[in-house]
Amino acid sequence: MASCMVFACYNVVFGIVVALGSFTGAEAQRAFFVFGDSLVDNGNNNYLATAARADSPPYGIDYPSGRPTGRFSNGYNIPDFISQELGAESTLPYLSPQLDGEKLLVGANFASAGIGILNDTGIQFINIIRIYRQLEYFEEYQQRVSALIGDEATERLVNGALILITLGGNDFVNNYYLVPFSQDPANTIYQIMSRTLSLSIRRF
Ligand SMILES: *[C@@H]1O[C@H](CO)[C@@H](O)[C@H](O)[C@H]1NC(C)=O
Repeated sequence: MASCMVFACYNVVFGIVVALGSFTGAEAQRAFFVFGDSLVDNGNNNYLATAARADSPPYGIDYPSGRPTGRFSNGYNIPDFISQELGAESTLPYLSPQLDGEKLLVGANFASAGIGILNDTGIQFINIIRIYRQLEYFEEYQQRVSALIGDEATERLVNGALILITLGGNDFVNNYYLVPFSQDPANTIYQIMSRTLSLSIRRF
């Protein structure tokens, strides 16, 4: 793997896919939201002052452009393949200026390399989007979409969306052996998951 760097090389990965609401197939397009770490970051960290970036070769050598994209991969990553299965274009990184207007309706990728379940995971990377911040961006995203298509349509879009959450590896690789007196990840994962789910079904 070209992407075997310290923040991307895991023995333990926590990954779940949550399908919310029932997908009727009648909708024009199902939205897709991605939260997590370098396994699913598709470029957010390129907009941040951090060492956890995939912005130089050999990253991207097998991507259609042959250039680094911010994905911690030689080519596509898992969210790209899921988007392809949905028949959709890849979601844009939330920090991309291109994520605007109609593009917002495809969904968004909030992931940031180096983060974990715990806030003190990845402290050495300084400027990364920790999971609580990814959820704040998700709230902001919903407000932006609401301004575009209205509250009800936004609620339908979010409730019918596919959500991918991939994090946990860095709590071992970039925390357990580095940060003294860290919190227990098992105690906080439930809070984070329930917050994500309650956000995505919140009423307007
Ligand atoms: C992380 O920090 C945020 C903001 O200070 C806080 O709201 C959240 O509860 C913290 N999460 C954990 C798991 O400690």
